[in-house]
Amino acid sequence: MSSLHASESSLATDVVHFEGPGRGAVRVLRPRRAAPADAVRPTRAEVNLAHLRHNLRVIERALAEGTTSKPPAVWGVLKADAYGHGAAAVARTLERAGIPGLCVALLEEAVELRDAGIRIPILVMGGYYGPRREGLEEVLARDLVPVVYDAGQIERISSLARFEGDGRPVRVHLKVDTGMGRLGVPLSELDQVLDVLASRPEIRLDGLMTHLACADSDEIEPTVEQLRLFEQAERRVRARGFSPRFRHAANSAGMIRLPSARLDAVRPGIALFGVSPVRGLSSELKPVIRIRTETVALRSVAAGEAIGYGHTWRASRPSVIATVPMGYADGLDRQLSNRGHALVRGRRAPIAGTVSMDLTMIDVTDIPGARIGDEVVFLGAQEGPLGRDVITANEIAEQTGTIPWEVMTSISRRVPRFYREP
Ligand SMILES: Cc1ncc(COP(=O)(O)O)c(C=O)c1O
Repeated sequence: MSSLHASESSLATDVVHFEGPGRGAVRVLRPRRAAPADAVRPTRAEVNLAHLRHNLRVIERALAEGTTSKPPAVWGVLKADAYGHGAAAVARTLERAGIPGLCVALLEEAVELRDAGIRIPILVMGGYYGPRREGLEEVLARDLVPVVYDAGQIERISSLARFEGDGRPVRVHLKVDTGMGRLGVPLSELDQVLDVLASRPEIRLDGLMTHLACADSDEIEPTVEQLRLFEQAERRVRARGFSPRFRHAANSAGMIRLPSARLDAVRPGIALFGVSPVRGLSSELKPVIRIRTETVALRSVAAGEAIGYGHTWRASRPSVIATVPMGYADGLDRQLSNRGHALVRGRRAPIAGTVSMDLTMIDVTDIPGARIGDEVVFLGAQEGPLGRDVITANEIAEQTGTIPWEVMTSISRRVPRFYREP
């Protein structure tokens, strides 16, 4: 019997019931983010919070196994609406599961989490606080941890803290660029930035971080070199009398592959959501999101007939085509036209024709018993009368020439998220 997790009750205005294949009735929450009209459509993302907690435990266990001393802290990366899973619900679940900290890219994302009642430390990794003082005021008022990477940011934060702070130093993390070439103090400028930090008692250097560019590639050398440069940077920082409590570098791939990258804290994003970017842990992690809808129309198509925009699919035999209310505006990549698959009754059915904005056709000729109202899964597992199969984010990414991160973050806000506690 499924149950509603009390921790998510504030997300919901109501509880609804639906039939899960092979699982009996499942209670789910009515989503708050969706307009009522959207919730009528059977297209939705089911977010399995038990799998999220499971993935956190898998990561914690792997980190504990890799060391005899205190394992690194896990700071979950919840940027981009928690990789499309819904940041508030994900953060609440992880906080209650005991995660010690979270990371986001944007100040706006951190504010959203504080508004949702999240109390644990939140690191704002993007380091952009806007041209006006309001941005930094939010950082102080919301007790966020700003990442800084240039002298100007440090000066602005310290003057604000001097005039408007509560007397306690503002804790910041300094990002150094060891080879990503995106954000971070170049090592050649580290001393100047440390000079500025040293002259600002309102600021405490609490963390030192970098970001790995190639942790998921076959070649390990660039990552090893980044870690070497990071260690060098740390020595320079300590030599100047700073003692940051947290050194952190590892995303999911770095954390899984390289014990030497784990340091004091790790910053996994995609692994928490059940996708391993490298081989390790992949069999233990469980995907958290599942995208499902139902067929709304069924038609017989004679051999030689074409369907969809541009008539890109033509029946080579008498066929049965089902229409599904999900399209590229929901995040179903148009490149899946005539290439991708969906699961129906536990078996794969090919996408037939061009994916359109709101609707997609699938060829169910080889799905015996197909009828209107069948569940259709575009991402995740399905069990049905014809078997069990799964479509992974990695599979979609391969078919569309992208990466699983983009597959997840492309599920649009038109697809309501339903949070579920099996
Ligand atoms: C600075 C930083 N740290 C950590 C992560 C988490 O990465 P992943 O999802 O690969 O674990 C990201 C995401 O790209 C990031 O930008």
